[in-house]
Amino acid sequence: MIRARGVHKSYRTGKSELPVLRGVDLEVATGEFVAVVGRSGSGKSTLLGILGGLDTGYTGTVEVGGQDLRKLKDAQLSGYRNASIGFVFQAFHLLDYMSCRDNVALPALFVRGPGQDRAATRARAEELLARVGIAEKADARPSTLSGGQRQRLAIARALFHRPALLIGDEPTGNLDSNTAEEVLALFLKLCRDDKVTLVLVTHDTTIARAADRVIEMRDGVIVPAQEVGA
Ligand SMILES: Nc1ncnc2c1ncn2[C@@H]1O[C@H](COP(=O)(O)OP(=O)(O)OP(=O)(O)O)[C@@H](O)[C@H]1O
Ligand SMILES: [Mg+2]
Repeated sequence: MIRARGVHKSYRTGKSELPVLRGVDLEVATGEFVAVVGRSGSGKSTLLGILGGLDTGYTGTVEVGGQDLRKLKDAQLSGYRNASIGFVFQAFHLLDYMSCRDNVALPALFVRGPGQDRAATRARAEELLARVGIAEKADARPSTLSGGQRQRLAIARALFHRPALLIGDEPTGNLDSNTAEEVLALFLKLCRDDKVTLVLVTHDTTIARAADRVIEMRDGVIVPAQEVGA
């Protein structure tokens, strides 16, 4: 599913250059759930941005679903991102001037080509709201939801196009531990049922324990498996 080789990235600030990824090699199998842990500043979010096709300023190769991301032109890359990758962040990024139903259906707005069937879009949004357990909130505004409900809404939106890969950056970071566990259970169920590949950056040990594999980043590289946690 994911194959990254020799990924390097630096940020330039003024005259100095800060190396952030220093040769990341990573393989993730289809349907695998990988938790990414590591100290603040170790490069976790930077890596996610690259895997998700949000950031192209790197060297090395990144293939997702057999597609070399750097070989895609901008428009192809954003089309690919919209169609194949779901994103869930710590901050929910929901739009409060829309109903929950329309928030879930937001990805439909970014599809090129002939206009989507509105009834089908609405039905898909409602099906997803039901799957994440907030069907009754379809007409509500996101600001009227609890934290856990907001994250469920964000997950429903991320699943709109049936992504092959779901990427999360601290998706439970703003939730209390009970709510975080519920949201985690939801992630796991969705991934098992739909064979979605899941890569989650987390400080939450419950999430890390539930993962098929935990990788630790340290100073811009992935720590070899036998040293994780050492
Ligand atoms: N846009 C940017 N410009 C300059 N430096 C940046 C930028 N984004 C991140 N960095 C630096 O890159 C390094 C890695 O950042 P990154 O956000 O990937 O870390 P992280 O592991 O996700 O940390 P955290 O756990 O705090 O979220 C940090 O030293 C950070 O200061
Ligand atoms: Mg981060």
